[in-house]
Amino acid sequence: MVKGGTKTDKMREIRDEVVNLKESPLYEYRMANNYHAVLGEGSHDAPIMFIGEAPGRNEAEQGRPFCGRAGKLLDELLASIGIPREEVYITNIVKDRPPENRDPTPEEIKLYAPFLDRQIEVIQPKVIATLGRFSMEYIMRKFGLDAQLEPISRAHGTVYDASGLFGSIKIVPQYHPAAAIYTQSLVETLKKDFKVLKRFYGKNKK
Ligand code: URA
Repeated sequence: MVKGGTKTDKMREIRDEVVNLKESPLYEYRMANNYHAVLGEGSHDAPIMFIGEAPGRNEAEQGRPFCGRAGKLLDELLASIGIPREEVYITNIVKDRPPENRDPTPEEIKLYAPFLDRQIEVIQPKVIATLGRFSMEYIMRKFGLDAQLEPISRAHGTVYDASGLFGSIKIVPQYHPAAAIYTQSLVETLKKDFKVLKRFYGKNKK
């Protein structure tokens, strides 16, 4: 039990609030297209949380994170280090699909980030792997690593030590898997960088 209900209760509360987030600029677009908000999926006791950017079309249609082409690559990367997808938690900063897969705006990030913060507090992961620069920037700032922020081309695969409300945590920025769909050489880089996560997986498994 976590304070104020079980983890599942808390995650459901977060889901219900996002589903009813009428003040979001993405709400009308979700309704008009019969899309779903995408909250995340995986274990509420996950030692590792993966945080992407925002759902794409497949994700918004199915209500599941990373279930399109980028998701297929994420599945392959997880398989390459022997970590079952259902044992981690996968989510995004922005929980609704931005039109035409455009980048999320700073206002959208500001609006949706508190829901991500609450998910992190519920799960209390030992490691956060950010996928892409938007989540890297948000998470590194959130955990007081502003001074160490670098372009993702330098930061990828680096392990940053930080502490949060629930103890020490490692932040490991990764390239966004979608970037590797267009730049094949990034697949090898991602594979190498994911090996870093394997190192922590056994040790920190809850
Ligand atoms: N890209 C993301 O950032 N998140 C998803 O869920 C899918 C694609």
